[in-house]
Amino acid sequence: NVVIVKSGMGKVLAASVATALLMKYNISSVMFTGIAGGVGDETKVLDIVVGESLVQSDYGIMSKDGFQWSTRYSTDGARYKSDKKLVEIVYEAAVEVSGKSGVFKGLIASGDQFVASEEYVVFLRREFGALACEMEGAALASVCSLFKIPFVVLRTMSDKADGKAHESFAALIDKAADKSCSIILKALDKLKRIH
Ligand code: ADE
Repeated sequence: NVVIVKSGMGKVLAASVATALLMKYNISSVMFTGIAGGVGDETKVLDIVVGESLVQSDYGIMSKDGFQWSTRYSTDGARYKSDKKLVEIVYEAAVEVSGKSGVFKGLIASGDQFVASEEYVVFLRREFGALACEMEGAALASVCSLFKIPFVVLRTMSDKADGKAHESFAALIDKAADKSCSIILKALDKLKRIH
């Protein structure tokens, strides 16, 4: 049986809906999907990133010297690992839907910011080695980790998180979301055959 829920944008809504989902239903695993900004040269628009790990990239300390990413005031470390089996299933599904080129596994950075800055993309690469940035995954990951429920996050790139991100997002939002949806449907089919 599958329960489908819609998060809304941002970490608060993602965490809220994840909490409600896990408290109301007897959930064995969670697949979370949507679109993201591609970070770095390899992740182009309509490419796919399967999040092996996630980080809350806006977590840290703001001082007179500016923002510094830090877990000093964090209770869970702000970094999370997806379930390895779910990563493999979703990765295989992505390759079947989209072909091997343009499908990546790696780190997804989540923050309550729409990223439209080449400078910030450089920060996300340097600080975390991120492949994609979005606004929900790590929040969902935080809640699932708290509940000890395996999860995976899959994203299709709608933009490059750069100066053209707003236009690219508007043009590709539906196409990128449809691609993510097809992959999750295929992954569910694979899961059904395993169980
Ligand atoms: N989701 C899709 N594109 C994004 C971006 N550039 N920044 C944050 N979230 C996104």
